[in-house]
Amino acid sequence: MDVYLRWTNDPVTMRGNGRTELEDREALRTGLDVMLSGENRHVTIYDPARRDHGAGPLPVGTATLSIDRPVAAAEYLITLGEEGRGRGLAAPATRLVLDVGFEDEGLENVYLTVLEPNVAGIRAYKQAGFRLIGHRRRSALWAGRRVDEILMDAIPTSRTSGRGRQPVAT
Ligand SMILES: CC(C)(COP(=O)(O)OP(=O)(O)OC[C@H]1O[C@@H](n2cnc3c(N)ncnc32)[C@H](O)[C@@H]1OP(=O)(O)O)[C@@H](O)C(=O)NCCC(=O)NCCS
Repeated sequence: MDVYLRWTNDPVTMRGNGRTELEDREALRTGLDVMLSGENRHVTIYDPARRDHGAGPLPVGTATLSIDRPVAAAEYLITLGEEGRGRGLAAPATRLVLDVGFEDEGLENVYLTVLEPNVAGIRAYKQAGFRLIGHRRRSALWAGRRVDEILMDAIPTSRTSGRGRQPVAT
């Protein structure tokens, strides 16, 4: 829980999610309960190249498919902590989660929203098979600055094949 709280309240995470308020432990627990409820798939992302104190792979972030079962569609969310960012992990982690969504969950569409200045996110999502489908204009704040949200989606045939270093998601 401490690690999740640190990732959630990390300034880069807050900026990426357009949040300005810190989240307390109780709010985080409630949010996680929602993420873990129903048919959602919530995974921890590990960097297999690095070890944690117990010498297992280092946990570096989380990813979620928030599934709308009746229409076989989902929203995708990802957060990497400071220890996971800037290492090229988001693209392969996202590919893995799309594999789970399309192959195990039978999804027909996965979408996400990302703030326009989040260049690393947009690039990683494109590499994983998402494509840009539109702009929601002036709909969010990036470090207090009004910006567009970019809408992206992926369908089963849009997955890419080239895979680099593979993070583990469980
Ligand atoms: C957004 C996020 C998922 C990106 O993941 P990441 O693995 O750290 O991404 P990387 O730093 O490896 O960057 C991905 C790509 O963008 C490129 N990139 C990063 N910053 C860039 C910049 N400022 N300008 C141009 N390219 C940039 C990287 O070089 C990389 O491209 P490459 O694979 O061709 O080398 C991660 O930073 C994160 O979790 N941030 C906090 C929370 C957040 O914003 N979540 C997303 C909400 S939609």
